[in-house]
Amino acid sequence: MKAVVMDSYGTPDVLRVAEIPDPQAAAGQVRVRIKAAGLNPIDAKIRRGEFDAVYDISFPQQLGNEFAGVVDQVGEEADGFAAGDEVIGFVDMAAYAQYVVVPAENVTRKPQGLAWETAAVTGAVGQAAYHALRTLGVTAGETVLVHGAAGGVGGVAVQLARAWGATVIGTAREDNHDYVRSLGATPVSYGEGLERRVRALAPEGVDAALDLTGTEEAITASLAVTRDTKRIVTLVSPPLAQRYGITMMFGTRSAATVAQVAELSARGELRLPVAHRYPLAAIAEAHQALEAGGRRGKLVLTLD
Ligand SMILES: NC(=O)c1ccc[n+]([C@@H]2O[C@H](COP(=O)([O-])OP(=O)(O)OC[C@H]3O[C@@H](n4cnc5c(N)ncnc54)[C@H](OP(=O)(O)O)[C@@H]3O)[C@@H](O)[C@H]2O)c1
Repeated sequence: MKAVVMDSYGTPDVLRVAEIPDPQAAAGQVRVRIKAAGLNPIDAKIRRGEFDAVYDISFPQQLGNEFAGVVDQVGEEADGFAAGDEVIGFVDMAAYAQYVVVPAENVTRKPQGLAWETAAVTGAVGQAAYHALRTLGVTAGETVLVHGAAGGVGGVAVQLARAWGATVIGTAREDNHDYVRSLGATPVSYGEGLERRVRALAPEGVDAALDLTGTEEAITASLAVTRDTKRIVTLVSPPLAQRYGITMMFGTRSAATVAQVAELSARGELRLPVAHRYPLAAIAEAHQALEAGGRRGKLVLTLD
C-alpha cells in the first residue's frame, strides 16, 4: 500500500509517500481501507521530534492518528464488524495510509449521511474537547473561558459547552471573531490586556478555563479570572501546568466518545468545518498549512 513515512525528524519535507506491505488483521483486529484521515497538531509535533520520549518511534515512521473508511478484513474474535462496514477510528501514527489495522475497539460505525472527510476529523478534536469539559466539570449556567476558540478542539469545546447550557468566552485573533461568535461564544482578542478584556465580559470572573494555546498569557489570565483555580485545564503545556499548579490533561480515546460526537455532527448539532483537503502526495504542503495557523476548520487527507 501507499503510506506517508518520515525517515528522520524535521520540517514537512521529511514526509514522503512510500510503498510498504499491506498490514494484516490479527485476532481482535480489523483492517480498514481509509477514505479520509484527519491532520492534528500532534502529528506535526511528532514529526518535529517533540514526542520522542512518549512514543516508540522507529524510522521509517508512519504518522496520522484518526481516519474514516471501510472495513475490508476482520480478524478472529473481532466481533461486531464485517467487511463493508463504514467506520470512524483512531490509531497511533498510522492513519496517513491506504490501509490501517487497529483493535476492533478503536472503531465505531460511521453515522449514515456523515461525509467521509467530516467523519475523519471528528474523533481527535471531539474527544479532546469532550473529555476536557468533563474534567473541568462544566455544567449549565456556568461561564467557561476557552483559549484558542477558533481552533479544532476550541471550536468543538465552544459548541459542546453551549449545548450543555454554559456561557462561553473564547479567545481568538480578531479575524476569527465572527467565526467564534457563529459557534456560540463571545470572542475576545488574545495578547496584551487579555485579563482586563475578559473581566469586562465577566466582572465576577469565570467558573472554568480551558487552555488550548500553551501560552503563559492564557494560564496567568485564567488564574486571575477563574474563581476556583482547580478548574483550569491545559491540553498543551505540562511545564506550565506544573509551574502554575493547574491540570495538564492528556486525551483518553474511546470509540464510544467518537460515536457520540459523530452522532452530533451527523444530526447537524455540531459544526466541524473542513478548511482544506489534500491528496496523500501533498502531505508536505498539508503539514505546512498545519503549522501556519490562521485557518477556520480542519485539514484532511483524502484517499481514492
Ligand atoms: N492533551 C491532549 O490530549 C490534546 C488533545 C488534542 C489537542 N491537543 C493540543 O491542543 C492544542 C490545540 O489543538 P487544535 O487541534 O485545536 O489546534 P488548532 O486547530 O491548530 O488550533 C489552535 C488555535 O489556537 C489559536 N491560537 C494560537 N495562539 C493563540 C493565543 N496566543 N491565544 C489564543 N489562541 C491562539 C489559533 O488561532 P490562529 O491560528 O488564528 O492564531 C488556533 O485557532 C494543540 O497544541 C494540540 O496539540 C492536546
